[in-house]
Amino acid sequence: MAETLATIEKRKSTKGFKPDQIPAAAVDTILKAGEAAPIGMGAFDTIHFTVVQDAELLKKISEAVTRGTPRAGTDIYYGAPTVIIVSVAKQVLPGLDLVDAGGVIQNFLLAATDIGIGSVHIFGTPYAFAAEPALLQLAGIPEGFKVVSSAALGYATETAAATPKPPRNIAVNRV
Ligand SMILES: Cc1cc2nc3c(=O)[nH]c(=O)nc-3n(C[C@H](O)[C@H](O)[C@H](O)COP(=O)(O)O)c2cc1C
Repeated sequence: MAETLATIEKRKSTKGFKPDQIPAAAVDTILKAGEAAPIGMGAFDTIHFTVVQDAELLKKISEAVTRGTPRAGTDIYYGAPTVIIVSVAKQVLPGLDLVDAGGVIQNFLLAATDIGIGSVHIFGTPYAFAAEPALLQLAGIPEGFKVVSSAALGYATETAAATPKPPRNIAVNRV
């Protein structure tokens, strides 16, 4: 249990990645952790994971998000060589898909942290697919599924690794 808490504390968003690809076994470990997350109403068949390691496709997705904005041309994935996209089949209840994806992605991030791989939750991804639906086919998103969010994964650059996790001061009330 102490190890779980240590991993939770250690996790931080990596905002700079080396181009080196992560091992296939690491991706499998991360996917397995995502699969272990709870899903509202146990509707596991409404969730789908897409592992994207095609640099050209990642570039296309990133460009579709930033096109026409002041961030045009910047990589929303910070150079990460792997992105796992989470998509959902349908909303069983309003908002459930977003909450489900949050839990799944948090498990991805914690598993990545545990095995020494940098990670960051990237919410920009669905905007690319909304702006350019042709990307759905390129990424092999199953028919009837919509992209909800994503995790970028890879080895942190020295600078990103040295960047401290922002401090928290989240208010709590107890009644
Ligand atoms: C739902 C969600 C979406 C996020 N989307 C992005 C994103 O699109 N781009 C980004 O750089 N960081 C994104 N982040 C990372 C946050 O900015 C980061 O978690 C926060 O600043 C706290 O830093 P830490 O993760 O190092 O503790 C996202 C985090 C969450 C939980």
